[in-house]
Amino acid sequence: MAAMHNIFLIGLPGSGKSTIGRILAQRLNKPFFDIDVLIERECGEHISTIFEHYGEQYFRSCESRLLAQVAQSEGNAVVATGGGVVTKAENRSLIRSRGVSVYLMVDPQTALDRLNRQHHEKQAQGEVPEIRPLLIGSDPLKSLRTLLQDRSIWYEDAHFTCSTLNKSVQRVAQEIIAMFISSGELVGEPPILDVQRIHVDKGYNAVVEWGGLGRLPLHLKKLNLPPRVFLITDSHIHKLYASMIMGTLSSAGFEPQLYTVPAGEVSKSQEQLSALYDWLIKQRAERGEAIIALGGGMVGDLVGYAAATYLRGVPLVQVPTSLLAQVDSAIGGKTGINHVMGKNLIGTFYHPRLVLVDPATLLTLPIRERTEGWAEVVKYGIILDTELFARLEEYADTLREFTNPPATLLCQIVMNCIALSRSGAGATE
Ligand SMILES: NC(=O)c1ccc[n+]([C@@H]2O[C@H](COP(=O)([O-])OP(=O)(O)OC[C@H]3O[C@@H](n4cnc5c(N)ncnc54)[C@H](O)[C@@H]3O)[C@@H](O)[C@H]2O)c1
Repeated sequence: MAAMHNIFLIGLPGSGKSTIGRILAQRLNKPFFDIDVLIERECGEHISTIFEHYGEQYFRSCESRLLAQVAQSEGNAVVATGGGVVTKAENRSLIRSRGVSVYLMVDPQTALDRLNRQHHEKQAQGEVPEIRPLLIGSDPLKSLRTLLQDRSIWYEDAHFTCSTLNKSVQRVAQEIIAMFISSGELVGEPPILDVQRIHVDKGYNAVVEWGGLGRLPLHLKKLNLPPRVFLITDSHIHKLYASMIMGTLSSAGFEPQLYTVPAGEVSKSQEQLSALYDWLIKQRAERGEAIIALGGGMVGDLVGYAAATYLRGVPLVQVPTSLLAQVDSAIGGKTGINHVMGKNLIGTFYHPRLVLVDPATLLTLPIRERTEGWAEVVKYGIILDTELFARLEEYADTLREFTNPPATLLCQIVMNCIALSRSGAGATE
């Protein structure tokens, strides 16, 4: 799939590097290496025994050698490093030059609780779990605190930091992927990009680009908009993507303002619309300044309607993040809100200046929403395009399970649906 560089996970023992690394590798379709496992395999002994027999220095030299081997032979792998890998300058510079580092943050008490839990689980399964060498002693919590104190300066120097506190490993992986996407790290290599001109009103582009969200500022620049832009999203997308996108927009010279509505269909309401108008008025948003709708169909419909009606219409950019929104609701210009007496009763047609679709965002979309989106795609296949339907059948398992999702195929399917929706929607305009 798409490339980026190696991903090195760093952090204390108990931060989840191996488990999260495995999930990331699978979701991003990359090979996975666990340096501790490689050392054990090479030496034929557990880490604790290696420490006991040969000492820490010997272990560290094996660690550096195997890290260098993996980092130099692989350009696109996920690597779980040992907690102490950052203590050596040569390892740190290797990691910096051969990829991106992600610091999995955990406090010493939580790390210890996790390590104890793992220990008991292994015992319950009849295994003889080893005790991590640097934690042997009467006060492992104190040891972890000291390790963190000594190493935090290097951990915090990572390219990305993700807290693991009170989060499932799946959630941490989801947040890391969102960081990669929104920071522009996850672009296709070669770029996977397709543009379709939609000839309605003044005409606009529907851009489908793997990793395109991270290049949002570049796409906006082509529209010659004033620097102030109003990014509107929902609470789920906010947590995953907003801060990084605000950062990339600011670095590119934009002055982004952020507004967040609660996630869920309930926000497609008169109340939320009024609150949105209030916010825009307080911001003194002007006619030429653009509103960016970042999210699924709910955000696209609500924000699209606000853009259509505020000051009798301001520039709108649709950045759909759910499959349904990418193949359907962000295309065609339908915007609106629900009324207590029925769904979508109030609305209008309003076309954006740009639709930027990044199918990589589907990597963080929950399964249920993905399935709903696929239902829409299958409908296109059945009604409008037998070739698309045959393709969906051929790749059904991959697309449904979303294991190692093929970036090019996803982009092609989304673009295919956009073209079909345009041909199907033509009659209504
Ligand atoms: N305008 C149209 O032509 C049109 C067509 C079809 C549907 N719709 C409307 O679209 C709405 C349904 O769209 P929807 O299914 O996208 O619902 P939604 O916008 O409520 O999104 C579903 C959930 O997925 C989350 N989400 C979205 N993208 C994500 C991502 N990349 N990663 C993680 N979470 C993500 C959202 O936060 C939300 O919790 C309905 O309001 C429907 O009426 C409009």
